[in-house]
Amino acid sequence: MNHFRHRIPCNVPSTIFRNISRRVSGGNGSHKRTMLAWQINAYGDNSNLKLAKTQIPVITKKNQILVKVEAASINPIDFRMRDGYGATIFRQTRKFKDNVPEFPLTLGRDFSGVVAEAGKQVTHVKEGDDVWGMSYMKQGTHAQYVLVENDEIGAKPRNLSHVEAASIPYVAMTVWTALCTTAGLRPENYHGKHVLVHAGAGGIGSFAIQLLKAWGAEVTTTCSSDAKQLVMDLGANHAVDYKTKNVKRELRQIGKFDVIVDGVGGQTEEYSLGLLKHSSDAKYLSLRSPIMLETDSLGLVRGGVSAGLQMIQKSVKLKNRFHWVFASPHKEALQHVQMLVEKEQIKPVIDKIFAFSELPEAMAHVEMGRARGKTVVDKFC
Ligand SMILES: NC(=O)c1ccc[n+]([C@@H]2O[C@H](COP(=O)([O-])OP(=O)(O)OC[C@H]3O[C@@H](n4cnc5c(N)ncnc54)[C@H](OP(=O)(O)O)[C@@H]3O)[C@@H](O)[C@H]2O)c1
Repeated sequence: MNHFRHRIPCNVPSTIFRNISRRVSGGNGSHKRTMLAWQINAYGDNSNLKLAKTQIPVITKKNQILVKVEAASINPIDFRMRDGYGATIFRQTRKFKDNVPEFPLTLGRDFSGVVAEAGKQVTHVKEGDDVWGMSYMKQGTHAQYVLVENDEIGAKPRNLSHVEAASIPYVAMTVWTALCTTAGLRPENYHGKHVLVHAGAGGIGSFAIQLLKAWGAEVTTTCSSDAKQLVMDLGANHAVDYKTKNVKRELRQIGKFDVIVDGVGGQTEEYSLGLLKHSSDAKYLSLRSPIMLETDSLGLVRGGVSAGLQMIQKSVKLKNRFHWVFASPHKEALQHVQMLVEKEQIKPVIDKIFAFSELPEAMAHVEMGRARGKTVVDKFC
């Protein structure tokens, strides 16, 4: 499939890991026991990322699926978690959910790959299927194998390569969580709505524009001037350069919005709250909740209370129309997006491709914050 591509891919062959990965598949269906994974054993910068030989996860629940990862993308949550972002909440969740220690920690949220093994209760995918999905609140996808659950996985769109497919699941699940779960709306409710998507050139924005256009919405977006052509090609009706002095006035001239999707926060949120329509069903959907930062600095209880108070203040100010979004997996969303991709109403937007052996460089690339679509990591095995 033709995807949007905006930078030259890296084509460095990844041979380092082939030499240290021990193959134990005997050709009789038995699986390898060890795999390679990019892991951290302490929070900090990229130098903490180590390529480690580790055990392939084992299915312990009937709804689990073991996936051989072919490609995965990098999301801002990955370098933030590498730095320690959300450690308080993620630590508790992993301990409670799977009783696993904090370290070593494998990062990575989404994947495209092949089912290596499926638990007894798994009915919608089977061994050998090409699949895509996300790993939520547990060991991540920057590894040769990942263990996921029923809701987190679906059939890969037939018209995409693994690299193309890996660019979509996490941003798709986030945008679906925002527009449907959090907003309490269905795809058909967006027909004719005017939606403002901040940061249209990034991973979330480039996907949200296409999804909303497929649902019949009018879309306005913000981006740098060099990205205007990209966002218009993706289907945006209006694009405003966020670096101009009068960004708020320019947006106001376009109109007021039924829904605002904000992955930027801070000053952008300050000037955007007044751009929401006054109707009671208008929604401000912020992807920048302070709960992780607050609980990291104040602890689970005080941080939770502090974030809760901020939520109440914003909610009162916007008369219950302000919401924080927390991405979660949705099987229905994966199926819906698969259908739109196969109809070519949504195309992957690939910024840059790195080999598995270059994962720290891929992380550094996304950390620059200048994304034009998604950065994908390839050649896992
Ligand atoms: N709550 C959740 O569950 C959840 C889930 C996923 C993501 N997120 C958050 O959502 C945000 C976006 O994620 P992403 O994957 O799209 O990140 P990304 O791909 O790294 O986004 C970078 C893009 O943001 C643009 N940008 C930066 N500042 C901007 C501004 N003031 N106005 C308009 N555009 C601006 C950049 O444009 P220029 O290069 O032109 O500056 C670049 O194109 C991140 O902060 C992420 O942590 C939250």
